[in-house]
Amino acid sequence: MCGIVGYVGKRNSQGILIEGLKKLEYRGYDSAGVAVFTSAGLEVRKAKGRLAILESNLEDAPLQGNIGIGHTRWATHGKPSDVNSHPHTDNTSKFSVVHNGIIENYLNLKEELIAEGAHFVSETDTEVIAHLIASVYEGDIVKAVQKAVKRMRGAFALGVLTEYEPEKLVAVRLASPLIIGVGEGENFIGSDIPAILEHTRNVYILNDGEMAVLTQEGVELMTIEGNFISRELFHVDWDITTAEKGGFDHFMLKEIFEQPKAYRDTMGARINDAGTAIELPEVKLSAEQIKGIRNVHIVACGTAYHAGLVGKNVIERLARIPVEADVASEYRYREPIITKETLVIVVSQSGETADTLAALREAKRCGAHVLAITNVVGSSVAREADSVIVTWAGPEIAVASTKAYTSQLIAFYLFGLFLAQTLGTQTPEAIRSIIADMKELPQQVESILARSEEIKQYAEEFAKNTDLFFIGRGIDYAVVLEGSLKLKEISYIHSEAYPAGELKHGTLALIEDGIPVIALAIQEELFEKTVSNIKEVKARGANVLGIVSEGNDELQKSVDHVFTIPKTTGLLTPALSVVPLQLLSYYASLALGHDVDKPRNLAKSVTVE
Ligand code: G6P
Repeated sequence: MCGIVGYVGKRNSQGILIEGLKKLEYRGYDSAGVAVFTSAGLEVRKAKGRLAILESNLEDAPLQGNIGIGHTRWATHGKPSDVNSHPHTDNTSKFSVVHNGIIENYLNLKEELIAEGAHFVSETDTEVIAHLIASVYEGDIVKAVQKAVKRMRGAFALGVLTEYEPEKLVAVRLASPLIIGVGEGENFIGSDIPAILEHTRNVYILNDGEMAVLTQEGVELMTIEGNFISRELFHVDWDITTAEKGGFDHFMLKEIFEQPKAYRDTMGARINDAGTAIELPEVKLSAEQIKGIRNVHIVACGTAYHAGLVGKNVIERLARIPVEADVASEYRYREPIITKETLVIVVSQSGETADTLAALREAKRCGAHVLAITNVVGSSVAREADSVIVTWAGPEIAVASTKAYTSQLIAFYLFGLFLAQTLGTQTPEAIRSIIADMKELPQQVESILARSEEIKQYAEEFAKNTDLFFIGRGIDYAVVLEGSLKLKEISYIHSEAYPAGELKHGTLALIEDGIPVIALAIQEELFEKTVSNIKEVKARGANVLGIVSEGNDELQKSVDHVFTIPKTTGLLTPALSVVPLQLLSYYASLALGHDVDKPRNLAKSVTVE
């Protein structure tokens, strides 16, 4: 996720900006840059790659000036490169901008600005902001930023400098975090507290729709409409490690709680304003080519494979095209039948997994169109695929994947609906209704997260066992596979996930008094059948936690504990039902005293076969 820092004060800003960016390195980035107001005007330095590269460029030609902004970029629009790195400037180089987030309507704004004579040098959405502010500037940078922000749609945090008013640093927050550090004769901005913690512990936390104007002397807070705000300073008493985790105890928990934002960002501009259609210009397939698809192969590893299993259900049900889902390490060796009419979808958070990459290359060799769903824009998978749907989950640091998995689900929903609208396999009303339910998901996840204490209690109880079972039917089965993997990865408790109806064909022999069984009974059409399977394990003494949709509370009579999730379209339920399972493994791992973020024997990215 991009990192922002900014400084205004009496000291030279270059070193403060670089040190601040280093404190944000944990967020992940692929390039970095700074803009400093020097005696020669606004000067920008930026470089693809690690901060050390930028640092060494600055050593060769240092920047002197006591106001500046800095940025570490996690690519979204446009590959990682020097030119796509921030800060971005307008054509006169009088305005400089750093940005975290996504401008959803940037293409429309870009066309408009080009028509007015702006010349764009990068592929980013951010550059639009610099040109836009320049085009509306009439001698007051605060007013210009307010005007520009009103034209922008999306979620973003900004730091803005102009040569015309070199004593001011303007900051804006709209749904992407931004804080203001208040010092003595100096003030700071940061996308996260660690960036400024070395200099001050007094901060203002900006809320959505708020902005700040910083000078050496002080900080003015106001809404983007221009109404002044007075606010108490917040005193940070966290140490640096807690601050990096945003106050959460672990990156995994932070990432679980970031899911509502990841859903919103991944859906973003891909749903049209009317909520009637999906727009995926990144899928480079014409309607004719889509109509020619005979079958789909989904290939991935680990958690991404589990997202693929949900994806199989989604595409088959919405678009009525046969789908196979394969583990990437098996795919190549089973001599899959890949033709030019096969669409191969590879799913990979990192975009670097060796087996997934090998499958991608094999599919391309056979002439299939390869669509990648990945979280890393400049990754090998993204570069080699024919089309790429980026999941905008932001960098995932915990080894156990959470927000990347759920963002992959969102990508599959978007793509499944996109196929359905092109093929006419769903009515416009059905598509509209699913889209409406998708838009509710972020807030529904928030309501589940607000009840995490309930899950914590079950987790502490279940963590006393050495074996555990998960059961579910239909799409719930795909979700319990992920729940079981999560538990194994970080709590080291042995668990198995079974299709609920299959249990009696063998595994039921393992059920005895007190064995925990976590049963997902979410799918309406399968609810009664799942309840029968739950009764089978109950009769053998299992301690059952049932996870159901609101309204199906009668399950309470058949199980020991019930956790309800909000109601939504059946196909969308995995985006909700997996959340209690993620929390369950997190709290179980915690109860057992394991290293949640770095489980034994596992790596975040596996680049060997
Ligand atoms: C590793 C990670 C898993 C991940 C899998 C696939 O095993 O530990 O969390 O699901 O790789 O990674 P990818 O980056 O391709 O999604």
